[in-house]
Amino acid sequence: MDLLKLIQSRRNIKIFKSDSVGLEKIQLWLQTAAMAPNHRMTEPWEIYIVGPDTRAKLNHKTNFGNAPVVLAVLSKHGTTDIETEENALATACFVQNFNLAAWSEGVGTFWSSMGGNPKNRQILGVPDDYEVIGVLGVGYPDVIPDPKPRTPIQNKMKQLS
Ligand SMILES: Cc1cc2nc3c(=O)[nH]c(=O)nc-3n(C[C@H](O)[C@H](O)[C@H](O)COP(=O)(O)O)c2cc1C
Repeated sequence: MDLLKLIQSRRNIKIFKSDSVGLEKIQLWLQTAAMAPNHRMTEPWEIYIVGPDTRAKLNHKTNFGNAPVVLAVLSKHGTTDIETEENALATACFVQNFNLAAWSEGVGTFWSSMGGNPKNRQILGVPDDYEVIGVLGVGYPDVIPDPKPRTPIQNKMKQLS
């Protein structure tokens, strides 16, 4: 699939098949994701592989669509507020790279922001100097939702002098 089609066809997946996804594949997609741009090469991301006990405690309302794998992606704070913000932006790029790498092999992701709340941070054991950019369900989609239409980009463009 070419890159434009890959980006256009990706969906946030909410219902997964039970088929497993190998750790080697996950690692390949994570290593690929690490090619994300990151200012001053801080490589601020860290990935927790969420095991069954932790997952049960997270008590997600749909159990991440029964995804076979759940990952939490964290971003380390920087030494300044700007660096902390840039690190979070870099980690969001990392997550999207991961989403697309997985999607290129037919595997979908459910991006959930639930890791940010204090209770879930505690369950995940997130240190104070990290934020949770996403908790991701990862697996083969059972249902691929229709695309959600986007605003024509011209409506969001401005010509400057
Ligand atoms: C930072 C971030 C947090 C998100 N958190 C959630 C979430 O908590 N629950 C959810 O259902 N989707 C979440 N999403 C996914 C969006 O809802 C989804 O991308 C959007 O509806 C567009 O759908 P699409 O990705 O299939 O095009 C999140 C996406 C981002 C970028």
